[in-house]
Amino acid sequence: MDQIHKFLNIVFPIVSFFLFIFILPGLSLYRMLRFCITSLFPENLAGKVIIITGASAGIGEHLAYEYAKHGARLALVARREEALAVVAGKAKEMGSPEVIVIKADVSKVEDCKRFVDETINHFGGLDCLVNNAGVGTLGLFEDQQCIADHTSVMDVNFWGSVNATHFALPHLRKNKGRIVVIGSCGAWFNTPQVSIYNASKAAQQSFFETLRIELAPDIGVTIVTPGLIDTQLATDQFIQKTKLNVTPLVSVEGCAKAIVNSVRRGDEYLTEPQWMRTIFLWVMLLSELMNVARRVFAKEGKSRLQNQEFRSNDLVQPLILKRD
Ligand SMILES: NC(=O)c1ccc[n+]([C@@H]2O[C@H](COP(=O)([O-])OP(=O)(O)OC[C@H]3O[C@@H](n4cnc5c(N)ncnc54)[C@H](OP(=O)(O)O)[C@@H]3O)[C@@H](O)[C@H]2O)c1
Repeated sequence: MDQIHKFLNIVFPIVSFFLFIFILPGLSLYRMLRFCITSLFPENLAGKVIIITGASAGIGEHLAYEYAKHGARLALVARREEALAVVAGKAKEMGSPEVIVIKADVSKVEDCKRFVDETINHFGGLDCLVNNAGVGTLGLFEDQQCIADHTSVMDVNFWGSVNATHFALPHLRKNKGRIVVIGSCGAWFNTPQVSIYNASKAAQQSFFETLRIELAPDIGVTIVTPGLIDTQLATDQFIQKTKLNVTPLVSVEGCAKAIVNSVRRGDEYLTEPQWMRTIFLWVMLLSELMNVARRVFAKEGKSRLQNQEFRSNDLVQPLILKRD
């Protein structure tokens, strides 16, 4: 058995290299053609029923407006009901025929079941679940006093989307619907200071990539990996000061528009801004260089901590709690 692996260790990379050269041009052509066709004939969202989690602010809020412009019916989910009601009002003005708001915490399994049930009871079906609700924590891992402070990140970002999907699946299957996952570039570009957040997004992406294979062709899965988007989560003072905003911010309106266009084309992946996709190649092909760059980045964060610019307790609070 070991001999076979020794043989494959040498032969498989070489064969793969030549296969890539042979397959990639054809596949690129297919992708280009598919993009042209799906851009010319995108999915019509009028009357479709869409659940958006985390719709009270940021990307989720603007996704609601974007879906509303296309005439979709919306179930908006988040913990802050008043904020959701404001978003619902604007979404109706922008063209949504029907919007309901559901106060729920995606980190609670019973809430996930409830908001799916309420949507089905109200609209009679479901075409798309947008798993957008997310939180993050900041700080170098070594400096954390209590790891339990971070479990909410996994509960919301990973388990929140897994549980919501679990309850939505039978309804999505009936309508041959779609799951949209708002992940993060952090899933594959592991910037320091956000280790638990990155891990939650990597787990989420891996889960939905597996699910995409299991559910095809009935249910599509679009995984969105945003870079830095101009929302409360990204403009938080801590992110500014710890230099996580090294790339220019993308407007939240532009991001939401790109996501809905991508969903209408039936894309499997979207990175916004698109140029950040190239970083994936940098990480894969130039990993040593990228690691050095990120280590420098981490040290800078550490020296700031040592200068007591921040208290370490501040660094472990979920960013979501820092809203004014
Ligand atoms: N902004 C960025 O640069 C960026 C980059 C990459 C990925 N993302 C991802 O994009 C998604 C949206 O982020 P954002 O930038 O729009 O953040 P945001 O402006 O802070 O909005 C987060 C939304 O999630 C909701 N939420 C948080 N915890 C929740 C919970 N337990 N149950 C239900 N809803 C909850 C919040 O509503 P309530 O407080 O009312 O519950 C809010 O509507 C997240 O998954 C985030 O990881 C953002």
